[in-house]
Amino acid sequence: MIAMTTNEIPAPTTAAVPGMPRIGDPAPAFAAVTTQGDVTFPADYSGEWVIFFSHPADFTPVCTSEFMTFASMQQEFAAYNTKLVGLSVDGLYSHIAWLRTIKDKIAFRDMSNVEVTFPLIEDISMKIAEMYGMIMPGEDSTKAVRAVFVIDPEGKIRAIIYYPLSLGRNFDELLRVVKALQTADHFSVATPADWRPGEPVIVPPAGSCGTAQERMDGHTEGVKCEDWFFCTKEIPADEVEAAIRVKGKA
Ligand code: BEZ
Repeated sequence: MIAMTTNEIPAPTTAAVPGMPRIGDPAPAFAAVTTQGDVTFPADYSGEWVIFFSHPADFTPVCTSEFMTFASMQQEFAAYNTKLVGLSVDGLYSHIAWLRTIKDKIAFRDMSNVEVTFPLIEDISMKIAEMYGMIMPGEDSTKAVRAVFVIDPEGKIRAIIYYPLSLGRNFDELLRVVKALQTADHFSVATPADWRPGEPVIVPPAGSCGTAQERMDGHTEGVKCEDWFFCTKEIPADEVEAAIRVKGKA
């Protein structure tokens, strides 16, 4: 074996993906054909939150379980002004046949006869999947991994989560991410580990020594500090829900 000098960096094993979008970037724009007609993305979703996600392939079991779960939670996401948009590198007729099969034949947990009514994009050329960094050659160069992009009403990417082919997503977590981002925006706070509505939120760090001291002296109403940089406040669950839940949605 040849000893490496400290300046030698091993070459990456897979090509870097040029221009992969990152948190804070505008969602890359595209036009596409879907199972619900044509879409112009993200413009068609202006004013709404979107979960834009990829799956590896139609007619595969993990993806089927995910689509049934997403479809069964569609109304719950809608209650937080959030639409679902899926993508795989399969063609439109494959998508249609797969979604029909899911409805007609597949039962999973307590779900059966599930109709997927959110759009599923066909991306045979893999152009959209490449543009969003959904193809990870070290995992599979011909299929998208399970990527999730949470996009806000201004079309900005706010969260990105990746799962490998073998691992089905946690949909409670995806809903939690949407609620936490909306809560952070509405109340100008951050949310701690495993936060759920009703639990204390993190207030922004003190911006001056005076504010830090005031907080530590207990002079900031409703704010509880462990130390000057770690302060929380209570926002009751019903106040959070009243702020982020679309009015009139059960
Ligand atoms: C699945 O969805 O079951 C799956 C898809 C691609 C590779 C492995 C599993």
